[in-house]
Amino acid sequence: MSKPPVAGNRTGRKLGQKVKKGKLKASSRRWLERHINDPYVQRAKLEGYRARAAFKLLEIDEKHNILGGARRIIDLGAAPGSWSQIAAKVTDSTDADPRVAAIDFLEMDPLPGVRVLQMDFLDDDAPEKLIEAVGGTPNLVISDMAAPTTGHRQTDHIRTMHLCEVAAHFAIEVLAEGGHFLAKTFQGGTERELLNLLKQNFKQVIHVKPGASRAESVEMFLLAKGFKGRKASDEALEAEEDA
Ligand SMILES: C[S@@+](CC[C@H](N)C(=O)[O-])C[C@H]1O[C@@H](n2cnc3c(N)ncnc32)[C@H](O)[C@@H]1O
Repeated sequence: MSKPPVAGNRTGRKLGQKVKKGKLKASSRRWLERHINDPYVQRAKLEGYRARAAFKLLEIDEKHNILGGARRIIDLGAAPGSWSQIAAKVTDSTDADPRVAAIDFLEMDPLPGVRVLQMDFLDDDAPEKLIEAVGGTPNLVISDMAAPTTGHRQTDHIRTMHLCEVAAHFAIEVLAEGGHFLAKTFQGGTERELLNLLKQNFKQVIHVKPGASRAESVEMFLLAKGFKGRKASDEALEAEEDA
């Protein structure tokens, strides 16, 4: 069970630490202070997760139960790999019988039971390679992809929303009936068109903001539960074409 960490610590490191003024820029110093004082960072270290992002997935699962029935999982934007660690565990994935495929254009250290593709998810051949790697029909697609920041807020926003859209189309193409799709999005940023597409294809579509997602961040997650199956998605497409 995932509980939000309390403001003490079990790593032996005190919270509320300051970084000395020195060579670091003020913004970098603020980032470093926030990082070393973040209870989720400390808890990730303690529990062996590669990133604090693990607790976002665990908190979402605790409330919405998406990992329980997962047999094969595709993890988009996976590095450094905390979501893949959880995915491998819940699917009992092994190197001999892999049930998790992960993709990131950044290098990711290998993880037992996880087939890692180092490539851009937007590449034309990425979907096919992911399906090949996961070894069967997935019933969970998770995406924590965020576009690398350019410093221009609007551009970053649009790029991440685009990743979310492409991930949604991919999920609709590959999921088993009854499967779920979870993707990072931004507050107020989900296009009506994307929401409609998901609502046509899934029984339930909601926005979630786990406690581990920083309150000051505009990050949100879009959760689409209960894929209706390819027949429903083809019918929705036909209806759209007829309209
Ligand atoms: C927030 S991190 C993911 C953290 C991960 N869920 C974990 O638990 O360790 C987002 C990742 O998305 C990746 N990413 C962004 N755009 C991508 C793309 N087009 N193709 C593949 N990976 C992408 C980034 O390289 C980055 O590693």
